[in-house]
Amino acid sequence: MSSVARTAPEVPLPPGYTLVEAPHPASLDDADAWAYHAVADVGREHELEVHGYDDLALRPRDVLSGMDHQEYAAKRRFVVVRSAAARALIADGVPPAVHDVVAYLFVLQPATSNAHLSDAFAVVRPQERGRGIGTPLLALAERLAADAGRTVLLSNTSHGTEPPPGPDALAATTGAGRVPADAPGPRFLRAHGYVLEQVERHSVLDLPAAPAGLDAHRAAAREYAGPDYRVHTWTDEVPEEWLDQVAVLFTRMSTDAPTGGVEFGEDPWDARRVRTWVGEQAEKRNGFLVSAAEHVPTGTLAAFTVFLYPRDRDDFAFQEDTLVLREHRGRRLGMLVKVANLDALARERPATRRVHTWNAQENDHMLAINVALGFRPAGVWAAWQRRTTSEDGD
Ligand SMILES: CC(C)(COP(=O)(O)OP(=O)(O)OC[C@H]1O[C@@H](n2cnc3c(N)ncnc32)[C@H](O)[C@@H]1OP(=O)(O)O)[C@@H](O)C(=O)NCCC(=O)NCCS
Repeated sequence: MSSVARTAPEVPLPPGYTLVEAPHPASLDDADAWAYHAVADVGREHELEVHGYDDLALRPRDVLSGMDHQEYAAKRRFVVVRSAAARALIADGVPPAVHDVVAYLFVLQPATSNAHLSDAFAVVRPQERGRGIGTPLLALAERLAADAGRTVLLSNTSHGTEPPPGPDALAATTGAGRVPADAPGPRFLRAHGYVLEQVERHSVLDLPAAPAGLDAHRAAAREYAGPDYRVHTWTDEVPEEWLDQVAVLFTRMSTDAPTGGVEFGEDPWDARRVRTWVGEQAEKRNGFLVSAAEHVPTGTLAAFTVFLYPRDRDDFAFQEDTLVLREHRGRRLGMLVKVANLDALARERPATRRVHTWNAQENDHMLAINVALGFRPAGVWAAWQRRTTSEDGD
């Protein structure tokens, strides 16, 4: 089947540019994989612009595997291609060169919960901005949202630094956290009616951590937790007997982590979804470490924390979810599982030099743990939202 079989919807791009819906190849070696390679390239350029490094950039295999998995969200990816390259593609099947792809749009709509949400992210290569490419991409995302009956539109921006309070800073509606008001993303989203609902602090922990500090945190956390808690650490797997309980912890992440004004409701997980997540990490060639605290008298998993990392880049890792069940809070279980996971990371990946993490700026308890462990601020990630008029006028 030709890669242009799926014609993209009509959008009013400026002259010289054509929209193409990214074909979905079976493998990244296929000719049809050009769009996913280009998405990764555009995204990487944006990461270098924002942070000066590419730790956070999606790789082509993340794009492929992400699009392979639509069990829990419907996803679409579009690319903007110079028209001459698009004509060659349509007429002769010649894939565009990566530099002929100047922008992409990603649209994600949750499928098993949050049926009111539609998430969009557009990136235009810096040298192509201000020509009216981003605006029709966002309009397309909004049209797709309306077609699917979604009434709350989400988007996000990333920034390498958080500006101090003042006229150059825009504060989140939570009152915690700011973004540079004049950066392209905030200007663009504000102009299109989006509200800055939440700012997350991006923090980095430089490794190896000072052993004395870790020893002190480990000892204090063990003492507070007492003898009833036992820590399990799993590498690249979640054992069958714990799948249901890990699903509960992932579900509670969606309700217990602060979301500011973002209308994100419970996102239920079950054992099958945990299995899917594990499989997806293998496909992406990611490794992961889970440390979980079991409350031994009841056999309950009371807390967990997750590290995720690409296998082919051992210099960095991501601190993903951390959660302590409500009824087990106040016993330093967050610190207990985090230190256990850092110990495991030091054993399994001694070459890792930094860990990235994101926490809501109003999430004082989680930030306090991370600051105590030595995480330093490295920028912000911002959640934007626009509510459209509900059409339930029956
Ligand atoms: C946000 C982003 C996607 C906008 O892309 P873009 O192609 O520059 O968007 P547009 O050209 O449609 O609009 C941007 C600006 O150009 C202006 N513009 C629109 N059409 C124009 C045209 N035909 N000629 C000149 N300027 C134009 C807009 O008025 C807007 O002005 P502003 O900066 O004062 O707000 C781009 O800046 C980007 O990739 N940023 C990084 C990623 C990001 O933060 N994305 C989050 C948002 S989804």
